[in-house]
Amino acid sequence: MSAQAREILRGVQLAPSILSADFGRLREQVMEVLHAGARVIHVDVMDGHFVPPITLGPLVVGALAECVAAAGAIIDVHLMIERPERQVGEFLRAGADSITFHAEATPHAARVAGLIREGGACVGLAVNPGTDAGAYTEMAGEIDMALCMTVSPGWGGQPFMPGSLAKIPRVREHAGPQAALQVDGGIDEHTGPECLAAGANIFVAGSAIFSSKDPAKAFTAIAASLQAPAAGS
Ligand code: DX5
Ligand code: ZN
Repeated sequence: MSAQAREILRGVQLAPSILSADFGRLREQVMEVLHAGARVIHVDVMDGHFVPPITLGPLVVGALAECVAAAGAIIDVHLMIERPERQVGEFLRAGADSITFHAEATPHAARVAGLIREGGACVGLAVNPGTDAGAYTEMAGEIDMALCMTVSPGWGGQPFMPGSLAKIPRVREHAGPQAALQVDGGIDEHTGPECLAAGANIFVAGSAIFSSKDPAKAFTAIAASLQAPAAGS
């Protein structure tokens, strides 16, 4: 699965974040965006410590793993939790294909990256807007994806921070040419293309997709603005 995940993360991808989905109809909503062409399903895990809200955990990843895999897509877990080294095993067992943890959340980044890789998943490292892009320097050879947060983590529906655009090339410089570059927060058909031009290739969008009346249609419109793969391609 890791090779497939790495291949998917090499392309331009619009990754729906289920944080803004209707949890009473979660599987149905995920199927809608998969049919529209989504190949990366982004799952936001929050622990009430690293960020104030508590969201969801490995049970939800496990519940979605089968239908996501059947569509040839991957589950991209974004851990906004303290001490991710204590939890990555559960997410790997649940079927995560890619796990991103925050540089600010652990003094053991290299060990967390090793645990994720040994578990067969892609390794992602995230930095908050206030964290210097230099946080990637020592980890450049260890990661498959760099996540440049474009809002402060914790909530969907926040406005894109325009200062992020200047940070994307700095993240690229420090994370190295091999890493996918993900942006997350306030992404829509206006901010997505700006991030694309700045060098990002994986675009997380929650409210712009799932808070709209027709998530599949919203997915298609934003994907078109990025020229990301759409249904049937
Ligand atoms: C925020 C999460 C995001 C969130 C994005 O901390 O990491 O993935 O779902 O939501 P939007 O796209 O609504 O800004
Ligand atoms: Zn996220």
